[in-house]
Amino acid sequence: MAVIPVDLAGRSYEVRIGTGLLANLAAECGTLLRKPKVPVVTDGNVAGHWRGTVELALAGAGHEAVWHVVAPGEGAKSWDGLRALTDWMLDEGVERGDHVIALGGGVIGDLTGFACAILKRGCGFIQIPTTLLAQVDSSVGGKTAINTPAGKNLIGAFHQPGLVLADLDTLSTLPDREMRAGYAEIIKYGILGDREFFDWLADNGQAVLDRDPVALEHAVARSVAAKARIVAEDERETKGRRALLNLGHTFGHALEAETGFSERLLHGEAVALGMALAARFSALAGKISNEDAERVARAIADAGLPSKLSDLGLTCNGRQLTDHMLHDKKMDAGELPFILLRGIGDAYVDRNVILNIVATFLDEQLGT
Ligand code: GLY
Repeated sequence: MAVIPVDLAGRSYEVRIGTGLLANLAAECGTLLRKPKVPVVTDGNVAGHWRGTVELALAGAGHEAVWHVVAPGEGAKSWDGLRALTDWMLDEGVERGDHVIALGGGVIGDLTGFACAILKRGCGFIQIPTTLLAQVDSSVGGKTAINTPAGKNLIGAFHQPGLVLADLDTLSTLPDREMRAGYAEIIKYGILGDREFFDWLADNGQAVLDRDPVALEHAVARSVAAKARIVAEDERETKGRRALLNLGHTFGHALEAETGFSERLLHGEAVALGMALAARFSALAGKISNEDAERVARAIADAGLPSKLSDLGLTCNGRQLTDHMLHDKKMDAGELPFILLRGIGDAYVDRNVILNIVATFLDEQLGT
């Protein structure tokens, strides 16, 4: 097992990565579980796979799991979903010093984390991410949110978990497409700040995707360690460091918006293509060599992820994509910060990107 500390004054916690963590849940959580009843939030799919394991693990230590099971999908991250969850937590008598378990992917972590941020002005929670994407990104760092008709993740809070248990066993039931989408966020850490890791992934990426336990633990731990360092430096994304984690997200957000935030393009796939575009745009701006930009795109394509805009079959033009960017929540006083590359492993925030130039670049990439 790998243990990665997230160092935040007064709110530090551990991310434990390994196998058998769910089966040993009560011992892993230790004194965070203060009462016989343990509230667990999950979705129907995850409950189908892991409810029995959790119940057995808790019962062995004299605990009883009480469940709030939501329908799978983004729909749960809504005002209605939040109301239902907070009402349930109040009915269950959750107190400030208690910890609620969020067992699932990013939707469950974001919804439960936000409910815990506001319940009685803040109670504890434990993240147990069951997707690769949640293990390497959303479960770490305390970003919690729900969606509204105005956009995704627009209502939320920074609220750090008390513990994160990334059980690699849970990835055994994850569809291959979701493994690849999570892998996009793993390559991201290499591209943005760790060339050695990028090179390691060139040799070992397939083993990670094949769920080889040693390769997987190394890749998840190295990703989490990178995120933990950045979060410790810039918890609330005010100093420019945490913004680097948005590499690929500005282009990706426009693509997700254009495809209706649908199954047509998963978030991780949009980030993957967004990173290839960010690399090519960086080359156009003369910041990175064409060769390195194409190495980034090739690493993405080799993982079975989209790396060319022309592959998506979009009917829009570059201007329509940059219009979506104007609704990005990262807009800041009329500026949209782009994360660009000076090299592989050397990302930076560029606040001077001209959207007209981006639109022309995207027209070329679309093949229009
Ligand atoms: N997913 C980006 C962040 O946590 O800051």
